[in-house]
Amino acid sequence: MDQFNYSPEGVLHCEDININSLVEKVGTPLYVYSANSFRDHYKRFKEAFAAIDPLICFSIKTCNNIHLIQELVELGSGIDTVSGGEIFLARQANTPADKIVYAGIGKTDEEIAYALDEGIGVFNIESEEEFENISRIAAQKKKRIKAALRVTPDVIDARTHDKTKTGNRGSKFGVDIERAKAFFNTYGKDEYVDLCGVHIHIGSPIYTPKPYELAIRKITSLIDYLTDQGHDMKIIDIGGGYSADYSLGMSPKWEEFAEVIVPLLKPYYDKGMQVIMEPGRTISANSGVLLTEVNYVKKGGDKQFAVVNTGMHHLLRPAMYEAEHFMWPGNVEKKHLISERIIDKEEATKGLEKYDVVGPICESSDYLAKGRNLPQLKRGDLLCIFTAGAYGMVMSSQYNAMPRPAEVMIDGEEIFLIRERESYQDLLTGLEKRKID
Ligand code: LLP
Repeated sequence: MDQFNYSPEGVLHCEDININSLVEKVGTPLYVYSANSFRDHYKRFKEAFAAIDPLICFSIKTCNNIHLIQELVELGSGIDTVSGGEIFLARQANTPADKIVYAGIGKTDEEIAYALDEGIGVFNIESEEEFENISRIAAQKKKRIKAALRVTPDVIDARTHDKTKTGNRGSKFGVDIERAKAFFNTYGKDEYVDLCGVHIHIGSPIYTPKPYELAIRKITSLIDYLTDQGHDMKIIDIGGGYSADYSLGMSPKWEEFAEVIVPLLKPYYDKGMQVIMEPGRTISANSGVLLTEVNYVKKGGDKQFAVVNTGMHHLLRPAMYEAEHFMWPGNVEKKHLISERIIDKEEATKGLEKYDVVGPICESSDYLAKGRNLPQLKRGDLLCIFTAGAYGMVMSSQYNAMPRPAEVMIDGEEIFLIRERESYQDLLTGLEKRKID
């Protein structure tokens, strides 16, 4: 479980910090991130793909606290963005502009102008109209930029949830691969937009290397064709999607992905093309947890519910994608002690009870786990929801007027508050009434 481990006495720790003392200081619900996990995942991911020296652009749609982004930027990471707001946060975290890539099917004129002014590295373009619009704004500003065309290679991972598949024909992203040749013929010699790359992102998460293999084969043959046609191809961006471990919390085996991906891209790297990768959750998911407290235990029909002080407003993934996050109490008796190595052993899972773990929101979809085997829970118990560092806080809301949680970053023995817990007062932000003339 990376840096989230139980002491022999049964107390969960993040790095060197005892979770009980942390909660005493900061309270719950609380997002807790391990700085060492972030750094370690980035370094090991980079190492796995070293043979093609990719520009790794961490996808901050997974987790956009600037203090965490900064940890990766300091190691040389670039950033994958999809909005003006994300470009702003990336810049606030000191990301060099030329290491920022910018995708998204709905780039507004204001966002495009902002990205041009900042001088970002690569625009990933998603449609003909968008190309023309970017070219028009770049011409006004007399700026020449680099761009890659996002194509949908018609490859998916069957296990990817329908709501997060993107590589299929007919998806709203990019252009169908058959249209890509015509796209380059029409726009390949633009004065302001140097269309010199191909981009894919086939979905999230992708569990095995196979879909990457199929998609990369398709786009490398497209690149071969375009090169033959006289286009100077400089960039190949294979997007994100690399999975995270939602059950045991162990780091994914990036080497297994690299073993398949590297040989396919190496010839293009050797020819001088730059490889870009946009990993998100594979770096951040297992680097963060959501700590919550049991408010009530109650019965309903044949079920037993643990009502906790967090829910779909703080972690939407179970309600939205039926996602299953491993969870376990913050303090356990020795017989329920787990680590990544012994979690499946019978002695740890004996004597468990079944719970639906639910939140306080007035919707039946507000649940975090259904029929989950857990050690007996009671009011006041701490519960840790693992693998919550990606698509957790970023997708949170104030639904039911519940303030958002605080965020802390642990680095060895040090605790940093990196986002204040919201207060009732925050529910009034921007609500000053004023007449518009
Ligand atoms: N690049 C592009 C263009 C993307 O659209 C995404 C994610 C990524 C990179 C990063 O993907 P990752 O490596 O994190 O899988 N909210 C959903 C996932 C939505 C993914 C959106 N795009 C979830 O919680 O599962």
